[in-house]
Amino acid sequence: MSTFAKAGFKSANYNSFRPHYPPSFYKILTEYIGKEAGKTGDKVGKTIDLGCGTGVATYPLLQFSQNVVGLDLSPPMIETANSLKAAKLKELGIQDESRIEFGVCAVEDFDAPPNSYDLITAAECIHWFKDYPKFFEAAAKHLKPNGVLAYWFYVDPVVVNFEGPHNEKLLAIETMRRAQQIYLLYVYEDPKGLGVHWDRPGRDILRNLLREVDAQIPQDLFKDVKTQKYVPSVDGLLQLTPQDLRLVREKITLKDFTNYISTYSLFHNYSESTGAGAEFLEKMIQEFETELGWDREKTLLDLNWTSGYTFMRKSGE
Ligand SMILES: C[S@@+](CC[C@H](N)C(=O)[O-])C[C@H]1O[C@@H](n2cnc3c(N)ncnc32)[C@H](O)[C@@H]1O
Repeated sequence: MSTFAKAGFKSANYNSFRPHYPPSFYKILTEYIGKEAGKTGDKVGKTIDLGCGTGVATYPLLQFSQNVVGLDLSPPMIETANSLKAAKLKELGIQDESRIEFGVCAVEDFDAPPNSYDLITAAECIHWFKDYPKFFEAAAKHLKPNGVLAYWFYVDPVVVNFEGPHNEKLLAIETMRRAQQIYLLYVYEDPKGLGVHWDRPGRDILRNLLREVDAQIPQDLFKDVKTQKYVPSVDGLLQLTPQDLRLVREKITLKDFTNYISTYSLFHNYSESTGAGAEFLEKMIQEFETELGWDREKTLLDLNWTSGYTFMRKSGE
């Protein structure tokens, strides 16, 4: 998947507007691994984070892994990941910079000696990988016995609550249903919208909650498979459980909601091929404002993402 690798891709925007994975998720992961995040001395040795992007998922791994390597095929992503290093390590209270490094490398080209890693992660990227049987085989080769492979995802935010200016004639539930329709129209359905610019089959695999990927886990190479998926409802009634990957943004402006959409790879593709990215976002904001009476700066939205994860352990001694 090459959009993220293009020189014009705004990787700093990506880092600001994409959701970041919450501590509760790393707790679920460390419990599965059998380690405790943040506890001195209770760490795995070596982790590799594939498709690491700007390091959103990579830096938090330092809380329970002594050494972490982030790899991504996109040079601009790796540049941003490296540029954030000093600030991120300070935030985590880590002085030893050598505990984390980033490199440009496609997953398909990655190789290392057998039994090298305790943990392999792939956050919000496995839907772009090209050959799942080969990927699982390589992961099993590179993991130590009982080492863990973990991948996770999120897709399509849903507005589950709002406050501030809105069309008083509409019930809140109608407003949120209509908001979801506008999102789907602009992002997928309108032939003049973003939909035709999606890189396929990646987006379809993602929208299908990675079912195609899960179905290809080789039972002879991995054991203890744990899968969890969450699909929010527009009315906000389907509550997240403590075992879910909780991806939530609260009280963000309508403007920032569309800024998030501007980080989609297809938005970059659309802007590149039509030269009209900014106009597209403006039209979408205006539709929310006209239809729902929202204000781009003053209406605040709560978003929940469809999300999920799959963990497994390498079989063997
Ligand atoms: C949506 S971003 C996710 C980044 C980060 N893991 C996160 O959770 O925010 C997907 C990333 O996967 C990378 N990617 C896609 N296909 C890849 C491949 N075959 N090998 C390595 N990286 C890949 C892209 O360059 C991009 O940075």
